[in-house]
Amino acid sequence: MTISSVLPLLKHLPIRTPSERRIARRLQAWAAPPHPMPRPTPWAASWETLHSLCSRIRASTNPITMAEFGSGVSTAWFALAVRAAGAGHIHSIEHQARFAERTRTLLARQGVSEHATVHLGHLGASDLNDGQPWYDPRCFDAYPTAINLVFVDGPVAHLGSNIRYPALPTIASRLADRCTVVLDDTHRAEEQGIWQRWGDELSDEFVITIEPPLSRSSAMLLQRR
Ligand SMILES: C[S@@+](CC[C@H](N)C(=O)[O-])C[C@H]1O[C@@H](n2cnc3c(N)ncnc32)[C@H](O)[C@@H]1O
Repeated sequence: MTISSVLPLLKHLPIRTPSERRIARRLQAWAAPPHPMPRPTPWAASWETLHSLCSRIRASTNPITMAEFGSGVSTAWFALAVRAAGAGHIHSIEHQARFAERTRTLLARQGVSEHATVHLGHLGASDLNDGQPWYDPRCFDAYPTAINLVFVDGPVAHLGSNIRYPALPTIASRLADRCTVVLDDTHRAEEQGIWQRWGDELSDEFVITIEPPLSRSSAMLLQRR
């Protein structure tokens, strides 16, 4: 893909800083979406986080099996990265039927439906989090084992308290021996608490390496003891 073919696609993306422009251009160039991607909404992952996760997918020596919590434009970027990597699959859970459908339509439009599955999981009271809302746990029965990349970006925070906490307890038994976990919105106090709690709870089973945080997300590498 040449710069002149990339430029018309870039005009659809809200890019605010030179750094974002560089990141977006790089992502666009190698992910090569055949159609312009929708504008990221304020709900979406940042360019920095998208680029970091897509780079992990592309650079991984093992095919990526990813669990994403909260679907959207990010799911399509990850599926494009899987396509560029040549192998792997994204499992993304979404509690709103209209957003699940919107993401599936975007995947189809970009020609990457085979690389991502959007699971519709309605929210209900969860025993894992004092009755706070969480995705229907039956949805995860269909998930594969050996998940080696996790991105937690849902449900939206205003629906409950510490609402994203159950993500790791839900899939802990399905994690690969080496796994990367990324939590979005760790600039917020609530997500910082969840992050700390996950680290404490996983440390018996995994050696944990915390990466320097990005602007709005944090990553930890887990290596089974
Ligand atoms: C933070 S968003 C997930 C965004 C997705 N990971 C991304 O980066 O594109 C969390 C949830 O918000 C909801 N959501 C997504 N887009 C939305 C929008 N434009 N307005 C309101 N809610 C939205 C969906 O239910 C989604 O699962």
